[in-house]
Amino acid sequence: MAKAKETIFFCKECGYESAKWAGQCPACHEWNTFVEAPAERPVKAAVRSSVSVQKNKGEQKQIPLAQVTALEEERIKTHMEEFDRVLGGGIVKGSLVLVGGDPGIGKSTLLTQICKMVSDDGHKVLYITGEESLSQIKMRADRIGTFSDNLLVMAETDLDVIEETLSAEQPEIAVIDSIQTVYRPDVNGAPGSLGQVRECTALFMQLAKGLGISIFVVGHVTKEGVVAGPRTLEHMVDTVLYFEGESQGTYRILRGVKNRFGSTNEIGVFEMRADGLSEVKNPSEFMLIGRPENASGSIVSCSVEGTRPILVEIQALVARTALGNPRRSSTGIDYNRMNLLIAVLEKRLGFQLSECDAYVNIVGGVKINETALDLAILIAIASSYLDIVVDADTIALGEVGLSGEVRNVSMIEARVNEAKKLGFKKCIIPKSALQALRSIDGVNLVGVSDVKEAIRKVQEK
Ligand code: TYD
Ligand code: MG
Repeated sequence: MAKAKETIFFCKECGYESAKWAGQCPACHEWNTFVEAPAERPVKAAVRSSVSVQKNKGEQKQIPLAQVTALEEERIKTHMEEFDRVLGGGIVKGSLVLVGGDPGIGKSTLLTQICKMVSDDGHKVLYITGEESLSQIKMRADRIGTFSDNLLVMAETDLDVIEETLSAEQPEIAVIDSIQTVYRPDVNGAPGSLGQVRECTALFMQLAKGLGISIFVVGHVTKEGVVAGPRTLEHMVDTVLYFEGESQGTYRILRGVKNRFGSTNEIGVFEMRADGLSEVKNPSEFMLIGRPENASGSIVSCSVEGTRPILVEIQALVARTALGNPRRSSTGIDYNRMNLLIAVLEKRLGFQLSECDAYVNIVGGVKINETALDLAILIAIASSYLDIVVDADTIALGEVGLSGEVRNVSMIEARVNEAKKLGFKKCIIPKSALQALRSIDGVNLVGVSDVKEAIRKVQEK
């Protein structure tokens, strides 16, 4: 009889599994993404799961959905509002949360602070580190404040020891810093390899559900922007948070990209200070600090992240190119979207942008993938090209279609109100949105139906 296969192959990008290696993934069509990993051994896993939550066979009857009683999940509030909101209202008991981000962005700092908040509240917390020594942890903790005896720390990388400790200590919350440093001795591969990371995550999921411990797992992000190796990790956990920002800058954004217990796309904004991270309660104000006065190529727009409107400044610089091939670059927005808007300007307004370099940037290092910003991006580019200054109290909202039409966007009222709160007086919005909005006190709503009209309205004083 053929021996059962010990290893299988995975696509790093989408998690597709295959018995043999392939140059191109048949599922997501990416090249060179296949890596070898040990095959899962279901029998062994079952034996191992002393804490397994498997129900007795007899219990698994089907019942009408209408009769299922939903339990309100138990949540622990961290009292760090920005963090609670991203999680959907606090830490859910028995959940497994992956916190991803570039090295040095502040993941350990954030989690140490969360541990402090909840342990001060009387919850038992265990922080397990495989990255640093206990004295390094202490040095960080000293910057943050004083800690209660409810917070235990341990430097360990062997998963067997971690499992025993979690079972014995039964903390309410545990942090694993990081998933790339822990390893299962009975699994092949170095710590951080795809196989190890998957096996360890699977075990943490069992422990979280079986013991009712909320486990936070830190994962470093690779150059390609995925948590080392696997998207596969993302679908194994309940919640995925990414901690982003430019490491030279001081602001940090915590973004929920998956949440089984709340809405995704919620963001929390933090500032890195000498004594740890502090919450930014009014991100719009924060994003607009340092706006240039009387400079062309700058305009404000409003993006909705989750349920929260945030104002952002969009800057564009258009300059005559010295090269045959104009340079284009975008920071914070989709590169292809920028090219599309440039093409609309060329075709519908006759701008000679093929002779110009163009750079577009969203100030503050945020990444926004929302078509509601189209009109503002287009106006910023036009403003720089024509060298006209957009009034400082003007914002623009609207999606731009390929024929140059300006289309409606969602939650327009919330966006306009946010702008009003920050003192903006003029809103350039899609004409189709005017009816729904009728009037908002103190704000001049200017409806436009296409990009030509929008540029004209910007120039009118
Ligand atoms: P860290 O949490 O170690 O990052 P990660 O775990 O994501 O790798 O934090 C990294 C940076 O944060 C480090 O360069 C120092 C800075 N920092 C502060 O500016 N203030 C502080 O209070 C702390 C603790 C760290
Ligand atoms: Mg760290």
